[in-house]
Amino acid sequence: MRHRALEHQSARAQVDKALDKYLPKKGKLAKAMRYSVFAGGKRFRPILCLAAAQALGKNPTKVLPIACAIEMIHTFTLIHDDLPCMDNSDFRRGKLTCHKKFDEATAVLAGDALNTLAFEIIAQQTQNAQIIEEISKALLKVVEGQVADIESEGKKISFKQLKSIHLQKTAALLCACVRASAIYLKANPKQIKALTSYARHLGVAFQIADDILDATSSQKELGKPVKADQKKGFPYFVGLEKSRKLAKQEKNKALAALAVFSKGADNLRGIAEFVLERRN
Ligand code: IPE
Ligand code: IPE
Ligand code: MG
Ligand code: MG
Ligand code: MG
Repeated sequence: MRHRALEHQSARAQVDKALDKYLPKKGKLAKAMRYSVFAGGKRFRPILCLAAAQALGKNPTKVLPIACAIEMIHTFTLIHDDLPCMDNSDFRRGKLTCHKKFDEATAVLAGDALNTLAFEIIAQQTQNAQIIEEISKALLKVVEGQVADIESEGKKISFKQLKSIHLQKTAALLCACVRASAIYLKANPKQIKALTSYARHLGVAFQIADDILDATSSQKELGKPVKADQKKGFPYFVGLEKSRKLAKQEKNKALAALAVFSKGADNLRGIAEFVLERRN
């Protein structure tokens, strides 16, 4: 069952409405961009942005442009992650992947366009170079993480290296969600530090959960092929039981980082619980 924090229909509906407003409407490229963005993702990152605003006692709608831009960046990384030269995946979000529905060139270009449009939205809506820098740096970490992830396949890497890949390829963008939102809403340094620590631990827990689902779930439930990361996920290196234990530890550290916030951070707390309970 999905967690309440992510089931929040109004948050998802608001994000989808804003995404529809920002995405181009005409032409082949627009069709491919929209196909992947509206294929049915969880909207985990936008909801994280909105929940960070709530923790800061601010109106979540203020961070909708940041939330939409990051979802576009995330979708771009998934389109490229699925390409034959990377994970070679035919299904995503329960549908054909972008390169299968269209063709490889269109998928590469739809990814490029989503990434570029995301930065246009951030620049135009926030007028804040620090936020642009924050998101650019996070995306560079994602790309570095993807390189390290590909290189790690089937190799013996240390636990430290494995965690570092997860911090880069997944946690960095979750950190950008809370940090960009917090900077935009003029949070104080103590609040930014707490949110960053929360998102780092949340990101590692999120990717361990993704690896566990890859090893234990079905394509029907996940909407994407399983056993795709068999020779590089956490279960491959440390086994399922230890993976579950480590994910729980990371979740608890994420929750502990929120101690500086009161009830306003309850949706962030719910998101941390959701990460381990999620079925897709
Ligand atoms: C998948 O992310 C890629 C990872 C970083 C594990 P999500 O599990 O958030 O995918 P969608 O957006 O719901 O499709
Ligand atoms: C991808 O990790 C993380 C990205 C930066 C896209 P995975 O390769 O494990 O993601 P899935 O399982 O295909 O969603
Ligand atoms: Mg991958
Ligand atoms: Mg993949
Ligand atoms: Mg995976």
